[in-house]
Amino acid sequence: MSDAPATKARTAMASITFTPSGETIEVPLGTSLLDAVILCELDVPAPCAGQGRCGRCRVRVRAGDVERRSNAGLVSAEILDGWAVACQTYVTGSIEVEVPERRRETVRPHGHAIAEPESLPLTCDWRQDPAVRTFELDIEPPSLADNTSDFDRLRRALAQQHGIEEVRAELPMLRRLGKDLRMANWKVSVTLEMRDWVYDAYLPPRLIRIYPGAFRHASMGVAVDLGTTSVVAYLLDFATGRVVDSASAYNKQIACGDDVISRIIYAKRKRGLERLQHLAVETINDLLDELQKRNGIELYEIHEVTVAGNTTMTHLLLGLDPQYLRAEPYIPTISASPVLEAGELGLRANILAHVHVMPSVGSYVGGDITAGVISSGMFATDKLTLFIDIGTNGEMVLGTKDWLLSCACSAGPAFEGGGVGDGMRASPGAIEDVFIADDTLEPTFRTVDDAPAVGICGSGLIDLLGELFVTGLVDKSGHLDRSAPTDRVRVHDGVPEYVVCWAGEGGADHDIALTESDITGLIRAKAAIYAGFEVLCRSVGVDLADVEEILIGGAFGQYINIEKAIRIGLLPDQPVERFKFLGNTSAQGAYAALLCVNIRHDVLDVAAKMTYLELSADNSFMDEYTSALFLPHTDLSGFPSVLAALQKRGNGSDAPRATT
Ligand code: FES
Repeated sequence: MSDAPATKARTAMASITFTPSGETIEVPLGTSLLDAVILCELDVPAPCAGQGRCGRCRVRVRAGDVERRSNAGLVSAEILDGWAVACQTYVTGSIEVEVPERRRETVRPHGHAIAEPESLPLTCDWRQDPAVRTFELDIEPPSLADNTSDFDRLRRALAQQHGIEEVRAELPMLRRLGKDLRMANWKVSVTLEMRDWVYDAYLPPRLIRIYPGAFRHASMGVAVDLGTTSVVAYLLDFATGRVVDSASAYNKQIACGDDVISRIIYAKRKRGLERLQHLAVETINDLLDELQKRNGIELYEIHEVTVAGNTTMTHLLLGLDPQYLRAEPYIPTISASPVLEAGELGLRANILAHVHVMPSVGSYVGGDITAGVISSGMFATDKLTLFIDIGTNGEMVLGTKDWLLSCACSAGPAFEGGGVGDGMRASPGAIEDVFIADDTLEPTFRTVDDAPAVGICGSGLIDLLGELFVTGLVDKSGHLDRSAPTDRVRVHDGVPEYVVCWAGEGGADHDIALTESDITGLIRAKAAIYAGFEVLCRSVGVDLADVEEILIGGAFGQYINIEKAIRIGLLPDQPVERFKFLGNTSAQGAYAALLCVNIRHDVLDVAAKMTYLELSADNSFMDEYTSALFLPHTDLSGFPSVLAALQKRGNGSDAPRATT
C-alpha cells in the first residue's frame, strides 16, 4: 500500500484578469467567457442567453489565447483586434479580457400615472382597510410590584388603549424590544400589520417597528410591477392611501436575455439563476433608493411591498428554478407564493416588511394578469369581457364574474421592437405613430419625446403596417408593391423594404425602414394573438362579436392605435366604444392589493377560479393561426371596417392601389 496521500484528479485551471475592473478569477479550462463574467458579476449583455445568435455579448481578449467556436456578428478587423463573442469563446489558458463600458438606455419617461383609489373597482373601503397601521402607546413602566414581561406589557397597553387584544412579534423585533422601550421612556409608536395574507388563516396583528415617542415618521408601502423589460415602483403613503411618487427602470435582467425564454435558458448556466435573482432584487432596490431619496423617507419606513409579475419573473425573483415552465407540460413550481419578508428576499425595505407576490394561474398567465383582472374590474362584472395584455406574450382572459378562461400565446418580441431590423423599445427617438399620404405615399410620423428618429417602437410598427396595407403598398400576404410610384419602396441589399425616414432626416446614421421579412414577423405575431382570441371564444361557444367589453391592459397597450391595430388584424373589428385602455393594470392590481387587504383574497380567488387553456395542446389553435396569417385575416367578413376603409381609399383587397 502506498504512503502517498489520496489525491483527486485536479481540473486544469487558468486565470482571467478583467479590465478595467482589475478583477482576477480562476476558472477550469474550457469555461466560456460569458460564464466567467457571470461569476465575476460583470455587466455584459446576453440578449439571447448565450445561444450565439445575437452577437451582443462582446468582450475583447487583450492577452492570451482562446478557442472561438463562433464569431457571430464580428467582422475580420474586430476579430484581429481581439473582439470575441463571450458565450462562444472558451478559455484555453490564462488571459486578460476587457469588458466594455455599457451605455444605459432610459425607459420611456411617461405613462406611469396610476388610477386614484376611488376609480379602482375595489371590493372594500380602502380608507379603512390598509393592512399597515400605526398606534401611539403610553406603556406603564415595570416595577418590583409589576414584573410583567416587556412584550406582555406592550400587549396590555395595546388592548387597553386601542382595543387590540392580540399581537405577535418575531425574534428580530423581540431582540430589540427591551432596549427600544426603555430608550423611549415607555412612550412609543408601534407599526402593526393588522392582518396577514396567509390564505384564509387568521393571524393576529404583527409588530413591524417601534418608534420612540409620538409618531413622526412615514408609513409607506411600495407596489411593484416587475416586467420582463421594465420595472415600475409606486410609493404609497398608508396615511392617505395615495401614491406619492413612482420610479421606473429597465429590468437589469435584460443583460441576461431579452425575453422570458432567454432568461430561462440563462438560468441554466452556472450561477445563472442566482444572478437573475440578484438582478431582479437589485433593480427593485435601485427604485426603492430613488423613491427614498426623492421623498425624504427612510428605507425602514417602507412597511409593506406588493409585487405583480409574470410567472417567469416571479420565479426568478424568488430564486425558483424556471426550467419546468418551458418544457412540456409547462408546470410552475408554485402558483401562490408564500408571504416573504423583505429581509429574506434582500429588498431594501424594513427587513420585517411583508412582500406579497400576486399569484399565477399557469406558466404563461402570471401575477401580472391576475392583478390586471382585479384592477380592471372584470372579476366583478356580468358583462362578457375580454381582457388582453400584449407584450412578448399575448395574455388574455375571457369571462364574467362567474367564470374566467385564460390563455397565452407567444407573439415574439416584435411588438416590443425586437426581431425587427429598425425596431426598438419605446425610448426617445422611437417612431410611435405613422401616417402615409394616399397620393404621395410619403410618411409623416411622431417620435417619443419628439426626439430625432432612431428606430420604430411597437406602436409605430402597428401604425406603419396598417398604413402600408390600407394604401396598397403592402398586399394581404405582406408583400410590398415593388412597382409603387415612390422611391421609398425599394430593394436594398436584395431585401424589399419601405423607407420611413431617410438617413440625415432623423438621428440614425442609416435609412430607417421596414423590410418584407419584418412584415412577415409582425403578421405572425398578430396572427398568434388573434388566434388566441378565437380559441378562447370558441372554447366557450361564443363569438368575438358577443364580447361586450375589450379591456386592454399592460404598459404597451396604452399606446396602441385601435383603428390601425384592427386594420392589421391584431384586434377584433368591433366598435371602438367597446375598447378601453386601462394602462398598467399589473401595477394597478399590486397597488390595489397594497391599499386593501381584502383585495389580496380576491386575487387568490381570481387565480383559483381562472381556467388556463394550454394552446399548444389545443388542436384548433394552429388552424386559427393559419387563417390569421393575412392582413387583416383570411376571412374579411370579420373585418367590415377594414374592408370599408380599403374600398374608400380605392384599395379593395385585390384591387390595384389608387395613385394620382
Ligand atoms: S451571442 Fe452571446 S449572448 Fe447572444
